[in-house]
Amino acid sequence: MQRKEFIKTCGMACLGAAFLGIAFEGCSGSKMIAGTMDRSGLLVPLASFDLGTGSHRKYIVVQHEKLRYPVCVYRFDANTYTALLMRCTHQGAELQVFGDRLECPAHGSRFDNHGAVENGPADTSLRSFPVQILEDQLHITLS
Ligand code: FES
Repeated sequence: MQRKEFIKTCGMACLGAAFLGIAFEGCSGSKMIAGTMDRSGLLVPLASFDLGTGSHRKYIVVQHEKLRYPVCVYRFDANTYTALLMRCTHQGAELQVFGDRLECPAHGSRFDNHGAVENGPADTSLRSFPVQILEDQLHITLS
């Protein structure tokens, strides 16, 4: 095999591996669900995080018709969750989730999975909501 052909083959293999990694994370790392609403907030089944075989999603995105923006819920362990409103604190664009961070498509602000600003122009943390575990559900207090 010629050197040029070898480099080309390795480059294609690396691109394929990177694509599969992104596709795999996209399928297993996140989930979009419709939460149910009670008087004070959102209810989300804990099973929404289950991937089977004892592994869990890092986060889920919860939507509800009464919410203008979705809520991203990160799972850090069985008892620790963070619920973040996916509204950019700069000018209010809806954020997108990329693994452990949320990014704004409008002007590029970036936030970590606790809602802290990593990159401006936003200079305020995301709105977060208290999360409680109630039997087999998470209760996210919105008020
Ligand atoms: S609205 Fe998000 S960075 Fe401007």
